Amino acid sequence: MLEIGGVRVDTLAQTYKTPLFVYDEDQLRSRLQEYATFFQSDTMETGVLYASKAFSCKAMLRLVKEYGLSLDVVSGGELYTAKAVDFDMSKVYFHGNNKSKEELEMAINYGVGTIIVDNLMEAQMLHEMSQSIDHTIHVLLRVNPGIDAHTHKYIVTGHVDSKFGISLLQEKELVDVIRTFDQDEHLSFDGLHAHIGSQIFDKNAFIAEIEKMFGFIKHLEDTYDIHLNTLDLGGGFAATYTSEDHPIPLQEVCSTIVSHCEKQNQELGLSIQKILIEPGRSVVAEAGSTIYTVGFMKQTPNKKYVFVDGGMADNIRPALYQAKYNADIANKMDAPKDTVYTVAGKACESGDILIEGIALPKCEPGDLLVTYTTGAYGYAMASHYNKNPLPGVVFCRQGKAREVIRRESYEHLIDLETDE
Ligand code: LLP
Repeated sequence: MLEIGGVRVDTLAQTYKTPLFVYDEDQLRSRLQEYATFFQSDTMETGVLYASKAFSCKAMLRLVKEYGLSLDVVSGGELYTAKAVDFDMSKVYFHGNNKSKEELEMAINYGVGTIIVDNLMEAQMLHEMSQSIDHTIHVLLRVNPGIDAHTHKYIVTGHVDSKFGISLLQEKELVDVIRTFDQDEHLSFDGLHAHIGSQIFDKNAFIAEIEKMFGFIKHLEDTYDIHLNTLDLGGGFAATYTSEDHPIPLQEVCSTIVSHCEKQNQELGLSIQKILIEPGRSVVAEAGSTIYTVGFMKQTPNKKYVFVDGGMADNIRPALYQAKYNADIANKMDAPKDTVYTVAGKACESGDILIEGIALPKCEPGDLLVTYTTGAYGYAMASHYNKNPLPGVVFCRQGKAREVIRRESYEHLIDLETDE
């Protein structure tokens, strides 16, 4: 029987029902510790912001807090969750291309340390709002560096139409925004932010990003006498989903980023004092798995289907991004994998296929199918499609399980509905 964090998968399924998200807590802890240890520089201050969009819940944020990392939030809801665990607000960075006035007010009232401003209109709104506050808010400005990296390739694009950030080519607008901040006694403009993509395997993409950003910072200094002290390079570090994925080892990606930043700082005679990264997926993806119960099976002329009791509602990634996953039958770990199946979910949607063509032991109803690497953007992107309750989430460590998010009931599903 497969175990996760020392707990048998059949015990988990019986206790908490399926589908169920299960995290190996020690794996989460070691990832957080690795980031804290490896992203260090002798000459610059460094910071790791956990991108909570990948998986946000109180238990997870408590771990982030325990390991001393900072936090990237992107909505009032993620911010509220941070507040609920008393996260040190000076270590919270608030992102988003369309923050509402209410969200900005919430951030100001909570005392959020840094707001990452995404566009000119937000800069103006924040400038107006800051007049009535009595403390200083740090500000970073998100720019679009024209580098787009996804999976194995990266491209230097002329793509200036991203919904995120201000293009480096829109120099006048960028400088205007920075001047707005400089004239504001309540806003302290620290520097720039960029994020070039997700699930990136090629470290040259990060090197290209660093060179582009440092080059631009130098240009701002030389041309406009604008001096920055912080550079936030975003997230995007890859995770292993299947045996075809070979992410850059964490220590290597961290040291590559740090050493290139140190080198650029020195070579260009700049004085960037602080560098930040924002990993989400790479912190939580591999520590998470999903347990499903097998229901029916069916043979079509070309395929053998095995149906599970979840699917696109708890993992939209295969349908949305053609993402690939690996799986096992937890109660048949030693059986020969002699049958090729298409693993499909229970949603009323033809695209609800979790895995196409995977070799598994012969399946039977009641088997427990486990998909691996579902810890990032799984629960976070789950939906109620077909009015199925959201699964529960359990952390397992050294043979003990604790439920960190309860499974929804049918009552929860109609809880907010009125009889009007
Ligand atoms: N920082 C910023 C500004 C971001 O936009 C993101 C992700 C991150 C950090 C964290 O990136 P990570 O280290 O997790 O790659 N739903 C998609 C992923 C969307 C990522 C959006 N931004 C998926 O399931 O693959």
